[in-house]
Amino acid sequence: MKNFIELFRLIRILSTGDAYSGKQLEEYLEISLSVLNQHIQTLRHWGLEIKFQTIKGYYLLSPIELLDEKKILRDLPEGRIKVLALVDSTNQYLLDNIETLRSGDACVAEHQTAGRGRRGREWVSPFGQNLYLSMFWRLERGTASAVGLSLVIGILITEVLHNLGGLDIRVKWPNDLYYRDKKLAGVLVELLGKKFKPAQVIIGMGLNINNTLSNKGIEQNWSHLKEAGITIDRNKLTVLLLLKLRSQLIVFEKTGLSTFISKWNELDNYLNRPVKLILGNQQIQGISRGIDQYGGLLLETKGGIKTYQIGDISLRGR
Ligand code: ATP
Ligand code: BTN
Repeated sequence: MKNFIELFRLIRILSTGDAYSGKQLEEYLEISLSVLNQHIQTLRHWGLEIKFQTIKGYYLLSPIELLDEKKILRDLPEGRIKVLALVDSTNQYLLDNIETLRSGDACVAEHQTAGRGRRGREWVSPFGQNLYLSMFWRLERGTASAVGLSLVIGILITEVLHNLGGLDIRVKWPNDLYYRDKKLAGVLVELLGKKFKPAQVIIGMGLNINNTLSNKGIEQNWSHLKEAGITIDRNKLTVLLLLKLRSQLIVFEKTGLSTFISKWNELDNYLNRPVKLILGNQQIQGISRGIDQYGGLLLETKGGIKTYQIGDISLRGR
């Protein structure tokens, strides 16, 4: 059985980036050398890059500012955020607790052991490095009113990041944020309910903050906020994103996608650029011409402009 108290104390000690000898860590934690070694292995498995040098000892390659519920609550008067150290998936955590949730309730985690993207793909989620945030919302008018929601969430996150100085960050249909043609963040919207009866939705987002991902599990070029010109404490970012989402989803519920379409076109990474759509084994090449009123992609080919609805389709540049 893992001793989580010891593991989190060890993370806290190392989080500053200072180096400690094995002996010091054994003494601070009152554990043996073999237990220390096991703990270091576990933390590495969670994605923490712990280095060891004979003279310096153990240290984290890059220091981390840990998530802190108190810090978040200071700037989020409404509260309703749960900070988790370890979870399978923040989306799954909210799904598991869905009966107790109100619109705007959220959770954020240091590490996801089973972070997921669309169609069950893995979202790589190393400890303490990036942002893994999910929020619950109740759609009074049913799943039919969720049309275009993942696009709107992409726009809202991008607006927050533009305000922080990341002006080259753009949206990619249907659920990603890109920086210079590289994936910076992904949005996963999971819907429960009936078309015209009150429905429930879990909105999850994964945002890379630092250059600390290994390429394992990532089959495409990726980026991070630092590269996009933003240095920000994850606690502050959590607050800014939740304030934005909580206020703008009220607007989305009233107006649907229509208020956001022009914004999408302003922010669209591939607007009027050559792209390919991947549908299983099939590929269709064309020029991306933005989105229609339902959030479908408009693709121009020799045959004219055709709409592709969000589903089992991936869009890529070419
Ligand atoms: P689509 O265009 O269909 O959304 P996608 O390849 O981006 O295609 P998603 O399901 O949206 O697929 O996202 C999951 C994919 O994102 C994974 O298959 C992996 O390639 C990539 N990925 C996983 N973790 C990260 C991460 N932390 N940062 C960037 N990309 C990641
Ligand atoms: C994608 O690009 O397909 C979406 C990735 C979404 C990842 C986030 S991380 C927080 C939340 N919890 C999950 O398991 N997934 C989303």
